Amino acid sequence: MSDVDLVGTYRRISEVLRSAQRAAIEVENAPDKRKRLRTFSFHEAAALLGTKPRQITAFIKRLDHVETSARTRLTMEELLELRQSLHAGSGRLSALPWRRSELGEHLATVVFTNFKGGSAKTTSSVHFAQYLARVGYRVLLIDLDSQASATAQFGIDPSREVGLENSFAAWTMAREEGRDLPAASICQKTYWPSIDLVPGGAVLAQAEESLGRRSANGKVEDILYFDELTCFLNSVGDSYDIAVVDTRPDVNILMTIALHAATGLVVPTRATMTDLASTGEFFAHLASYVADFRDAFGSGLDTRFTKVMVTAYDPTDRSQEALVSLIRERFGDAVLPGEFLHSRILGTAGFGKETLYEYEPSTDRAAYNRVLASANGINQAIEQELQRVWGGGR
Ligand SMILES: Nc1ncnc2c1ncn2[C@@H]1O[C@H](COP(=O)(O)OP(=O)(O)O)[C@@H](O)[C@H]1O
Ligand SMILES: [Mg+2]
Repeated sequence: MSDVDLVGTYRRISEVLRSAQRAAIEVENAPDKRKRLRTFSFHEAAALLGTKPRQITAFIKRLDHVETSARTRLTMEELLELRQSLHAGSGRLSALPWRRSELGEHLATVVFTNFKGGSAKTTSSVHFAQYLARVGYRVLLIDLDSQASATAQFGIDPSREVGLENSFAAWTMAREEGRDLPAASICQKTYWPSIDLVPGGAVLAQAEESLGRRSANGKVEDILYFDELTCFLNSVGDSYDIAVVDTRPDVNILMTIALHAATGLVVPTRATMTDLASTGEFFAHLASYVADFRDAFGSGLDTRFTKVMVTAYDPTDRSQEALVSLIRERFGDAVLPGEFLHSRILGTAGFGKETLYEYEPSTDRAAYNRVLASANGINQAIEQELQRVWGGGR
């Protein structure tokens, strides 16, 4: 096959697959071609807020200016309003757990990373972001993976809607060229009212090249290229409590800058021998990177916690069970408590599919509740690590 044929063949395959992705996203987004978040029952809202459903009813009646109401559901925006009003009334931090910068609670950054593709980094980071939003935090999700599955999960088509101007590449290019770019300009709203997204896409290759040029040229002003994500996060202002970063599965500069920005690292892994072997290689890489960095710069990284997370776990599989008990015995609290259970809801392939926090079961509630509880448990354990870092009696 000549080169010309090759180019044509590759383009055709790419176009077919891109339009398949586009079609899947559009179906998911119909009728207004945008993904929407479902509403929540008063029962769910009451559980999230630690109040009684009748308190929710009273709030909705006030909101709608009516004496009686047949409503049984509310939107995430309304839930947020209710949080604000409960917090204003009681001062209860759990109603609105926003960080208190006056007490030194800085924006915390959780990076999901591992060498292994398919270890549920994207699934875990998106679920963690949505868990945080549901319990009342303001979240910025940063997609640093050029495959952009987290971006697609939020109903944005990476091949058509993400370019140099609206991804993290915009930031790195502006910095390389010495231009000012307001960090907030690349944080876009999503259909989750408390989650903003810095989308990813193939264009992130340009961010890598730009950072690569700076790492290679050795000029004094460029030597700190590895702090670019930290700089970006320092510039987004006070609008967020927690940044969640999804990364690409290999050693690359974007992953390195994420390590430098991390308050905490979460390393998702499946409980199989191949995944654990790859996770072992990943920790060997981390060890040598941190040691080399310390030798070169005289200081280490300011990562406050590093946790392995067992994902897509099937407790009926004896070999997975044996591996999990082995790693728990050896690693102790370096492994997050509980496992994120395998779920058929997540296992079905397709762009734009729902997360556990978006899905509402019509059948087999018990199975759904089990996986949801597993995701909540593990996400809450990460939240508690962040609260420990923040301190101040949380
Ligand atoms: N808990 C789970 N149960 C079932 N399938 C899962 C689970 N977590 C992840 N998956 C599936 O595994 C595949 C890889 O997950 P993904 O999050 O994209 O991994 P990564 O980002 O590490 O490459 C996806 O198809 C995803 O839906
Ligand atoms: Mg991924």
